[in-house]
Amino acid sequence: MLTQSEIDRLPTEYHVAHIRIAPNIILAPMAGVTDSIFRRIILRLGGCGLVSTEMTNAASVSPKALKRHHLLDYLPEERPLTMQLSGNEPDLVAAAARTVEQLGADILDINCGCPSPKVTGGGHGASLLRDLPKMARLLKAVRAAVQIPVTLKFRAGWDEASLNFLDTARVAEDAGVAALALHPRTREQGYKGSADWSRVAAVKAAVRIPVIGSGDVTDAHDALLRLRDSGADGVMIGRGAMENPWIFMQIAQLRRGEVPFQPGPADKLEFLLAYMDLCEAEMPERLALNKIKQLIGQFVVGLPNASHLRVAVHQSGSPAQARERIEAYFTPFIEAAIA
Ligand SMILES: Cc1cc2nc3c(=O)[nH]c(=O)nc-3n(C[C@H](O)[C@H](O)[C@H](O)COP(=O)(O)O)c2cc1C
Repeated sequence: MLTQSEIDRLPTEYHVAHIRIAPNIILAPMAGVTDSIFRRIILRLGGCGLVSTEMTNAASVSPKALKRHHLLDYLPEERPLTMQLSGNEPDLVAAAARTVEQLGADILDINCGCPSPKVTGGGHGASLLRDLPKMARLLKAVRAAVQIPVTLKFRAGWDEASLNFLDTARVAEDAGVAALALHPRTREQGYKGSADWSRVAAVKAAVRIPVIGSGDVTDAHDALLRLRDSGADGVMIGRGAMENPWIFMQIAQLRRGEVPFQPGPADKLEFLLAYMDLCEAEMPERLALNKIKQLIGQFVVGLPNASHLRVAVHQSGSPAQARERIEAYFTPFIEAAIA
């Protein structure tokens, strides 16, 4: 357990070039999850210093094509906002970077971590870890194309035999990247095993730009412990925010010496219904249903009979049916808490 005076000594902010990120606890980009609705709902709960769009293929980002997909939609209240691109061709990614800058992104992030074969197959994401000279060309081309700061999110290496996170970090710093976020698993690991935060510490010691750690943070106190132990400038939270969207707020409360808010069943129900309200108001029914299905898998972690709720929502045919099933699941717990 950290004492309050240890907590008080931890860094609370960092800068991406001229942009102040405070607090230094930020939402990880998650494809299919961190759309504008999810980002706004997290930001409104408080305690989150930076959000990012989902990864977007640079090839799909041209002023013309933008009308067709909404991955880069956002509202002003989300600032500062990172937009994340994946790509492989320096000129093409540089052109997409200019569009992203025109759209109003505060920071552009390049994804060199996605392990999905669909992404690496095209030479994007973690695939660039196998070709650092190409990564350097790409980062330099992007840096030259835009005024906004460019950051890099990456993994520890392609596999255990090719752990090159220190080289990657130095290549990125030399290319003019303003901050790094490391998810310290390999591409081969996917999401298996655990995130080795000693690698975050090693990167922090190797470069002068801010270093953010990403991986396996699901508890407010643990987030602060990792911040201290790794010496990182910030902590990024992904699945932990799907499971417990209050985690950012809880970290802020811990820092103020308060007892962190513990959401009860009524708070959880209210969160899910508010999320569904926004999804249904802003997207077609089918997509709104997919969103709640995506969130529920992680949100139910730790709930009694979690699989029951997960299956019930997954088998729902409409948002209305999902809503009914969610209410039916939570009502007995809410009644028991009142009694
Ligand atoms: C559903 C899902 C989608 C993700 N999509 C992205 C993405 O679009 N871009 C990215 O850089 N990382 C993506 N990630 C990786 C996360 O940003 C994060 O680095 C990783 O999940 C480890 O952190 P966590 O344990 O806090 O979730 C994704 C992870 C998940 C679970």
